[in-house]
Amino acid sequence: MTLAGKRFVGVPSRLADAAIVPLDSVSQSDTAGSGFHVNNRRPARRDPRPDLPFRSDRESMPSIRYLAAADVSTAMVPLPERLALAEKTLRAFGGDSEMPPKIGVHPRQADSVAHAMPALLRGSAADGSDDSIGLKWIVGFPNNPAIGLPTYHALLLLNDPQTGVPLAVMDAGTITAARTAAISGTAIRLFMPDTLGRPARVAVLGAGAQARAHLPIIGYLLPGASVRLADREIDRANALAAEAGILGGAAAIEVVPDVRQAVEGADLVVSVVSFGPDHQSLDPEWLGPETLFVAVDYDMQAPAQLARAAFFVVDERAQFLATRSESWFVGYPDPDATLGEALRGAAVDEAGRLRAARRSGRVLVAHLGVGLADVVFASAILARAEQLGLGRVLPL
Ligand SMILES: NC(=O)c1ccc[n+]([C@@H]2O[C@H](COP(=O)([O-])OP(=O)(O)OC[C@H]3O[C@@H](n4cnc5c(N)ncnc54)[C@H](O)[C@@H]3O)[C@@H](O)[C@H]2O)c1
Repeated sequence: MTLAGKRFVGVPSRLADAAIVPLDSVSQSDTAGSGFHVNNRRPARRDPRPDLPFRSDRESMPSIRYLAAADVSTAMVPLPERLALAEKTLRAFGGDSEMPPKIGVHPRQADSVAHAMPALLRGSAADGSDDSIGLKWIVGFPNNPAIGLPTYHALLLLNDPQTGVPLAVMDAGTITAARTAAISGTAIRLFMPDTLGRPARVAVLGAGAQARAHLPIIGYLLPGASVRLADREIDRANALAAEAGILGGAAAIEVVPDVRQAVEGADLVVSVVSFGPDHQSLDPEWLGPETLFVAVDYDMQAPAQLARAAFFVVDERAQFLATRSESWFVGYPDPDATLGEALRGAAVDEAGRLRAARRSGRVLVAHLGVGLADVVFASAILARAEQLGLGRVLPL
């Protein structure tokens, strides 16, 4: 691998994913006790803090917990648990869940999105006490980075599953990034080609919020991996590469000037570029015969030709079919499988790795984002936030 003219930043592998989970601000006992279980314990319904006015009035009033972005980051579950939550979400489709395809409106800025994403997960209690019900509202404006703002802003509302009383409102930016990267993690666990002991070669296309969230997952699941990072704005790629040490991403990150140089020779491609007018830009000839391509950005890079030739997997079939249109996924076939189906058919190999039943040739996993994952993550985060006393409890 030549380094001439390219930025190369060596970083230790398998570091804590500090950018998403500042665990130093979480007590040891809480971290140790969190395990892999989604705690759906209902939050306290009364404001315990004596300093708020009208406390006596609120003794009889329902309240709601507001978690700002920093609270959500502090309460974020550790990376292995995030992978478990993603898996739990994907397995729930077709069974213990309800999630209509996203609905949206269309703000004036080109390629902007505004989506409402309701979801329900049924727990095991017959009275519904451990169900989760909620809604994410996410709005994205691709011109925002030019004025110093994140592309996406999102809020998430959780309700009591037995009464409908609102329980919490929280910032969902960090949740969106974390749950999306964790779903990609499931795809990697299921479909990563065998590199026969050689460290994996990974291409990350786009160097924004999603790329930042994916680096810790890549570093955790593929220790020793080397990453080539391409962004049309090379300063963004250089900035992310420089940050990668604290993100705990990969063994090495190399910034390359274009998509082709990033993907050639890659075992895994993670595509996270912004929405824009030019869809399906990547030439599949640049990809290896066994490449796993994880498309987080719909069809911005992955062409229909790749989807038709590869084993083609989505996160949720109905939502993919509702999205495929004259604007999105033009020419794409019906999916061969969903991630949930692949999980149900998967086996653990002798090395303890989860492997999908089918894995030969290229695999394209397009996950469009499921509100159910947001609700599952938010329920776990709310439980931790209550334990840690985070956020503000407000009267309804
Ligand atoms: N599937 C999901 O669940 C899910 C969730 C959130 C975001 N997304 C999608 O993921 C993508 C990334 O989101 P984000 O929040 O990181 O956005 P972002 O705006 O923070 O970053 C996107 C980056 O892509 C770069 N880029 C755009 N076109 C490019 C190209 N042709 N080649 C190289 N780089 C290019 C931009 O310069 C920018 O740095 C978006 O398409 C978004 O809609 C999907």
